[in-house]
Amino acid sequence: MDHSYIKNQVVAVTGGSRGLGLAAARALVRRGARVALLARERGPLEAACSALPPGRALAVRADVCDRAAIAVALGEVAAHFGRLDGLVNNVGFQFARRLELMPEDEIRRIIDLNFVGAIFACQAAIPLLRAAGGGRIVNISSSTVRHANEFSHVGLYSACKAALEHFSRELRHELRHERITVTVFSPGAAATGSVANFDPGALQEAMADWLTRGPEFDGALQPDTVGEAIAACFDYPPGAAAEFIEVRPSVPTPKMLESEWKKD
Ligand SMILES: NC(=O)c1ccc[n+]([C@@H]2O[C@H](COP(=O)([O-])OP(=O)(O)OC[C@H]3O[C@@H](n4cnc5c(N)ncnc54)[C@H](OP(=O)(O)O)[C@@H]3O)[C@@H](O)[C@H]2O)c1
Repeated sequence: MDHSYIKNQVVAVTGGSRGLGLAAARALVRRGARVALLARERGPLEAACSALPPGRALAVRADVCDRAAIAVALGEVAAHFGRLDGLVNNVGFQFARRLELMPEDEIRRIIDLNFVGAIFACQAAIPLLRAAGGGRIVNISSSTVRHANEFSHVGLYSACKAALEHFSRELRHELRHERITVTVFSPGAAATGSVANFDPGALQEAMADWLTRGPEFDGALQPDTVGEAIAACFDYPPGAAAEFIEVRPSVPTPKMLESEWKKD
């Protein structure tokens, strides 16, 4: 694929301080893009930014669930680099608990982090992409939408990602005359450590249920593999776009309970 289309373009990556967001930002910079990393905590953001080549990355603190703050943050990105050409809506929060037991604050948090925040970021980015003459939005979904064996008790998370996919389809239609493209990128399991978010009791229960779905799963991807595939969504020539891409691991891997990993 030709990397020249993305050279010197400016892409904002939400949740860019670690995990898949940072891996995508690194892959975009390797293509010659300039990136803005958006996240809440200053320390990891600045560390991520300073590991990228000077002048190619900007760290901006913002909470995607705060509509005004994300608009200010993307405005800062456009002011700093002089334009905005792309947005990767990567913030997401995977969390396992049986739906029947999920408390209200957790329900609202999962919906905000996996769906509402991406809507706010799209709303803030669209006028800036329009001002640049067009651009690309890449919304990060999850293969839990289509693959029940990814994990158990992540029903609300995957429902939010399914909503994000449907939202993306409608947004693509709304923006079709504006040279702004909308891609859904759906990763399979990746080794980012996001399981640290989980409540230990709910995690054990989810893992026990997961074993009932079969003895194996499809393994876990390396974050850089996913980051490269996200960045490749920006390699298409003007007038073409990937509408949906799913990248999943393909190494049948025995499932273990968390207690079994901890034996080593
Ligand atoms: N890892 C997987 O196996 C997997 C599989 C399929 C799909 N995905 C999706 O891929 C995306 C990235 O996952 P990941 O595993 O790389 O996540 P991660 O390692 O947990 O990183 C999350 C990033 O988002 C930032 N963040 C969290 N809440 C935020 C908020 N309210 N506002 C702004 N930034 C926020 C975090 O920084 P701060 O905490 O400093 O804000 C961090 O930079 C998510 O959408 C996830 O659902 C992941």
